[in-house]
Amino acid sequence: MSFLELRDVHKRYGPVQALAGVDLTVASGSRTAIVGPSGCGKTTLLRLIAGFETPDQGTIALAGEVLANGDGAVPAHRRGIGLVAQDGALFPHLSIADNIGFGMARSETRRDERIAELAYTVGLDKAILKRRPHQLSGGQQQRVALARAMAMKPRLMLLDEPFSALDTGLRASMRKAVAELLEAAGITTILVTHDQAEALSFASQVAVMRDGKFSQVGTPRELYLRPRDRMIAEFLGDAIILPAKISDGFASSPLGRLAVDTTERRDVARIMLRPEQVLLKRTSREGMSGTPDMLFGEVTESEFAGSVCTIAVRLLNSADPPDAAAIGNTPLILRKPGMDAPAVGEIVRLTVSGTAHVLA
Ligand SMILES: Nc1ncnc2c1ncn2[C@@H]1O[C@H](COP(=O)(O)OP(=O)(O)O)[C@@H](O)[C@H]1O
Ligand SMILES: [Mg+2]
Repeated sequence: MSFLELRDVHKRYGPVQALAGVDLTVASGSRTAIVGPSGCGKTTLLRLIAGFETPDQGTIALAGEVLANGDGAVPAHRRGIGLVAQDGALFPHLSIADNIGFGMARSETRRDERIAELAYTVGLDKAILKRRPHQLSGGQQQRVALARAMAMKPRLMLLDEPFSALDTGLRASMRKAVAELLEAAGITTILVTHDQAEALSFASQVAVMRDGKFSQVGTPRELYLRPRDRMIAEFLGDAIILPAKISDGFASSPLGRLAVDTTERRDVARIMLRPEQVLLKRTSREGMSGTPDMLFGEVTESEFAGSVCTIAVRLLNSADPPDAAAIGNTPLILRKPGMDAPAVGEIVRLTVSGTAHVLA
């Protein structure tokens, strides 16, 4: 069931067209992640949904109720939508407890208890409840903002890069805790993030924004494996992009004849593989002889970074080159487990697992 619906939403600030025709459907109880480069309109979109701005054109509807359409708009405080802003936006003159309890009635029974519970759920020590926002770290402030938004029991929660001030370990555990918290409360959520892994793991629907509109919306798997174009492919992870000639469900490419994910195409196109699809097996120069249909490469660079090692592999032959020159000097960049990665100068045999994706 569609819960939130945006149709053709536009917003302009003077000469800047911040949103240029946004369409989005969000199911009740689901989690959506919005990713896109800085300045593409993500924050503007959340502010329009929350009701802090009005669209120039288009409609926003929540649970069947039109929130904004041309001039008419339901005011922000009547929308039942929580927004955790990028900078937290806490009230500097209020204590942390009063920030969290801001939306609760003073007369609410168990007010202090609920504030303490909310602080606990977002991982804040109750010792800080008496402090003021400036006495907290950036990460703690973001968590207070989240607790404050949760306290209002919103129907829809909008999170604008809420984990960006946290360091890696804390970030992953907070993300998981917040996802579980929102899920348990049945709150539909939209998360804006810069972090592709965060988007893919948090959400059931991912929307990639570019220049004020969505260039692709789909499940994490669809977007990761079948991105519409190169920019989307590279935004969601590392990608190997190769020239190829496509026909009958196969690509002839510098990595040989590869199955592709469409039988419709019959043209010269670019194909994409995720680096983890390229498997390496150590061999030697002697191991290369008498095997003309196998593909070999030499490791030319290796950068150890703990759990992963990034290596560059230069192809030594090309099994089926439609345009061998196009890859000739460009090595494949692969990430392998750090413990067992081949070293510079080693010869490897390459095979590809799964299908290649044909880009538009
Ligand atoms: N209040 C405003 N006045 C003028 N320009 C704005 C305002 N808010 C945002 N913009 C502009 O709109 C564009 C989109 O901004 P924003 O939504 O903040 O992007 P993002 O969150 O994706 O980084 C940017 O070019 C930004 O400078
Ligand atoms: Mg922003």
